[in-house]
Amino acid sequence: MCGIVGYVGEKQALQVVVEGLRRLEYRGYDSAGVAVVSQGLLDTRKKAGKLANLESLLGTDPLPASTIGIGHTRWATHGGPTDLNAHPHVSADGKVAVIHNGIIENFAELRAELALTGVTLSSETDTEVVAHLLAAVLPDAGMDLAEAMRRVCLRLAGAFTLVAVHADIPDVVVGARRNSPLVVGRGDGENFLASDVAAFIAHTRHAVELGQDQVVELTRDLINVTDFFGNAAEVTEYEVTWDAAAASKGGYETFMAKEIDEQPKAVSDTLIGRVNDEGVLHLDEMRLSENQLREIDKVVVIACGTAYHAGMVAKYALEHWTRVPCEVELASEFRYRDPVVGPRTLVVAISQSGETMDTLMAMRYAREQGARVLAICNTQGSTIPRESDAVLYTRAGPEVAVASTKAFLTQIVACYLVALYVAQVRGNKFGDEIAAVVRELAEMPRKIDLVLDTTEEMKALAQQLKDAPSVLFIGRHVGYPVALEGALKLKELAYMHAEGFAAGELKHGPIALLEEGVPVIVIVPSPGGRSLLHEKIVSNIQEVRARGARTIVIAEEGDDSVVPYADHLIRIPACPTLLQPLVATVPLQVFAAAMAEAKGHDVDQPRNLAKSVTVE
Ligand code: F6R
Repeated sequence: MCGIVGYVGEKQALQVVVEGLRRLEYRGYDSAGVAVVSQGLLDTRKKAGKLANLESLLGTDPLPASTIGIGHTRWATHGGPTDLNAHPHVSADGKVAVIHNGIIENFAELRAELALTGVTLSSETDTEVVAHLLAAVLPDAGMDLAEAMRRVCLRLAGAFTLVAVHADIPDVVVGARRNSPLVVGRGDGENFLASDVAAFIAHTRHAVELGQDQVVELTRDLINVTDFFGNAAEVTEYEVTWDAAAASKGGYETFMAKEIDEQPKAVSDTLIGRVNDEGVLHLDEMRLSENQLREIDKVVVIACGTAYHAGMVAKYALEHWTRVPCEVELASEFRYRDPVVGPRTLVVAISQSGETMDTLMAMRYAREQGARVLAICNTQGSTIPRESDAVLYTRAGPEVAVASTKAFLTQIVACYLVALYVAQVRGNKFGDEIAAVVRELAEMPRKIDLVLDTTEEMKALAQQLKDAPSVLFIGRHVGYPVALEGALKLKELAYMHAEGFAAGELKHGPIALLEEGVPVIVIVPSPGGRSLLHEKIVSNIQEVRARGARTIVIAEEGDDSVVPYADHLIRIPACPTLLQPLVATVPLQVFAAAMAEAKGHDVDQPRNLAKSVTVE
């Protein structure tokens, strides 16, 4: 949510900042703006709409050369996406420029206070108050921008990342964070601030994590971090393990197409080094002792959106392999319902970004109740793993397209690893049983590759169905969360009505939606092993077909029982039902992306969405 970039160094700041914003545009894209300081003057440009609009403006109305600058892409909270509400916001004296991610909850009170001193706000944003407050405290803070920022932060309620520059302090960028992401990039004779390392990865892979309630002062040679009271703070430095190429389109039309294709590698990278040749799991990096795992009497998974669907898949595997009861809960609901969690509960927080505010707040609540929290996360150094008792990183690499794809598959794999590890530690499964599942898991990248080789039919189907008023998805067992995920992808990318249902639930109401020609996508479990499940879904296909639905059946190779009832048959490689989401989801991702393209929508940046949702 909102992309933030700050730069001070020797290069042309505007170029560095705009390039950084381009890499962060997935975070929000309803307006963009930049500010630079040059020869004692602060200059800003901002524009509603995507970054390209700002770039055109900069073409016709250029900014002066400067080696210090800040930039922002916005996802609107307070005030519509207009030129005026775009960041940076500037103080009444024209000296301070501020960019912000988050929500300042006491802004109405601060605005009223500013009004008493004769300051009227020119935008509808909560952010603007910070620019005026900084200008007001600066003389008293000895014209020390970091000190002014500390004083202002102590007055703010809510979540914020703030970055500011001042016309009279031309070599300093100051940042602050509370409950909202901000990372420092340490360069050679230059330093960076950004919401995400992607913004500066082309310049440096040395990153500095900022903690909660910290202020950072940056010059080209110095990074000084304190808490809000001015006490020096300890920081953690790390090397980013991927490079700029990983976060570029690499010849693909869209990031999403690239990320769908990267799934075999993402899955195999997530498995690497976590299982030995005998199929014994080693998750030492997870930081949970075997005793702690033996003590748990319940697992609660908390997550949002696609990550929540990964959690739903995990529940089937976890309960089956470990016999430990597992609940899966939307993070945004969790802490508001007085959930039963305690010291013997293992809470698993799943998050690609590691910054989702709903998930962060839910896990903080769980920790307050004494629960242990294990994060499954894709973003090193992000807040959720930092605040968790334990972490298992997915290794999907940077996911730039707003719609999650490769992160989903790796979240499922990470959950499986945790479940199998718990089963191993608690002795719920024999070693050879675990080794057999691990062998099946190791086969999955190859099987996903096979699915990727046969996506043409799904793409053609999207062309045919692009004007359908609605698409329904049904599945049973792990096919149910896959159905939900397929529907979510279609909603967010193609902006069309799509619903996922547990196939058995259809007859309890939703079947009334069916009429002639309504496309129903059915995820059919493997006919091997759980044949009862398979039989039931074959009946469900017949039920929907009997009511005129157009059936699109996703079934494994060799499953001929579905042939008579499938208007379109999409084949996936055979694999145990529990692992099937890793292949069955892929055609649905391709379908949604192709549908969005067929309708002329932006696949990577769907309307109203942002990649990292840092407000509740
Ligand atoms: C959907 C999507 C979202 C995210 C959700 C959680 O394609 O990307 O539903 O899955 O916002 O995000 P993370 O995993 O970053 O916590």
